[in-house]
Amino acid sequence: MRKKKRRQVFENVEVVDAGAKGKTIGKAPDGRVIFLTNTVPGDIVDVQTTKKRKSYFEGIATNFHALSDKRVEPVCQHFGVCGGCKWQDMGYEHQLFYKQKEVENNLKRIGHLQLPEVTPILGSKEQYFYRNKMEFSFSDSRWLTLEELQSDTIFENKNALGFHIPGMWDKILNIKKCHLQADPSNAIRNEIRDFSEKNELTFFNPRNQHGLLRTLMIRTTSTGEIMVLIQFYEDDKEKRELLLNHVSKTFNTITSLQYVINKKQNDTIYDQEIVCFAGNDHIFEEMEGLKFKINAKSFYQTNSNQAYELYKITRNFADLTKEDLVYDLYTGTGTIAQFVAKKAKKVIGIEAIPEAIHDAKENATRNEIYNAEFFVGDMKNVFNQEFIATHGRPDVIITDPPRDGMHKDVVQQILNISPKKIVYVSCNSATQARDLQLMDANYIIKKVQPVDMFPQTHHVENVVLLEKR
Ligand SMILES: C[S@@+](CC[C@H](N)C(=O)[O-])C[C@H]1O[C@@H](n2cnc3c(N)ncnc32)[C@H](O)[C@@H]1O
Repeated sequence: MRKKKRRQVFENVEVVDAGAKGKTIGKAPDGRVIFLTNTVPGDIVDVQTTKKRKSYFEGIATNFHALSDKRVEPVCQHFGVCGGCKWQDMGYEHQLFYKQKEVENNLKRIGHLQLPEVTPILGSKEQYFYRNKMEFSFSDSRWLTLEELQSDTIFENKNALGFHIPGMWDKILNIKKCHLQADPSNAIRNEIRDFSEKNELTFFNPRNQHGLLRTLMIRTTSTGEIMVLIQFYEDDKEKRELLLNHVSKTFNTITSLQYVINKKQNDTIYDQEIVCFAGNDHIFEEMEGLKFKINAKSFYQTNSNQAYELYKITRNFADLTKEDLVYDLYTGTGTIAQFVAKKAKKVIGIEAIPEAIHDAKENATRNEIYNAEFFVGDMKNVFNQEFIATHGRPDVIITDPPRDGMHKDVVQQILNISPKKIVYVSCNSATQARDLQLMDANYIIKKVQPVDMFPQTHHVENVVLLEKR
């Protein structure tokens, strides 16, 4: 017989903190931590537990006795159902406070590191509409909200174009207005959905794998260029062209209209052929006079204005001279490498994705940067003794790894090389703390600067300067 889950209720719990993975934190009467999802620090609530572990509970607030003065009214009609922007009900200054605290806690508790005074987190000027790239999914099995389920309406049309409900790969929330990407993003998405419905173009069914329309990507730039990419599942030329011609005619500001036909089970486009339907197969972003060509598969930091701030901090921390050989590990499309190149003798970028390295080389040539070289491969294999013997021992290493942080062999190799300075840019201060701990005997932390790239979410970027002890 299946064991029935016992849920517990705790009354009058004060929410005292916020942090890891965006959860807020209260305490159970026995002192165990309760991770909550629908509260703000300062709320006093009754909690129903959803999960019980040895050292903690997870739960949701079912009744609010007092609302925190840190609360603000969420601007988005989809708040609470949509998985993005989970901190939208907390004032921005408080979001920044908890992000800063999270970085400091991780460095101290995970890394056991001695810290200099941590510089106050750099907030984003734009708290909404800051993203330059959004990806939406089509589905014929729309997620119905609680109000919709409780209403008497019978929903025959279940088409949706929007975001996945957290943890549900086959359920899509229909998005009417998203506050993350500037116009005409919402107009383009809504027009594509309305036109497709009117013309009976079918939306994808992820369970049974059928339907014409699969995903939509919109990229905007500070230069005014716009890329739209529609992913189709079925190869139906007539219907495809009907939609693409309509999009092209309706939005003459789109400078790159592309599509892909993807019959695979998953919807990643990285191994698919992309076809340019109208305009160019790329757009350009600009930063401090440098031009970066971005194609549909290219990586580019999603908050362009804050990326500029992040790169300036990185360059200041590196404080390069014309004598310095710099390595930019996990270089992506070589943006940081090109951003610092003028100050250095030479920069070497290493990155795993061949297309990104192709873009990095092309961009460097366009930007007339002749002292940067780029190499492709898995860091733990490429960044070895032979590579250093061939390309030279770096004076300064800049590293910007993915969320998992650096492989321990890469950390060891940095220690073997022993550069005078390391600038560690990270989007996950927990793995950054782990890596810094491994370097602690040889390097001292001189500066720490958290940066907020993603307002309304719990994500936080952190830049650390290390110098040899
Ligand atoms: C956080 S991004 C940094 C990109 C770049 N610094 C920028 O600002 O645009 C991390 C990069 O590391 C690359 N990467 C991930 N794992 C890697 C590995 N094992 N070896 C080399 N590069 C890797 C990813 O493809 C990605 O481009």
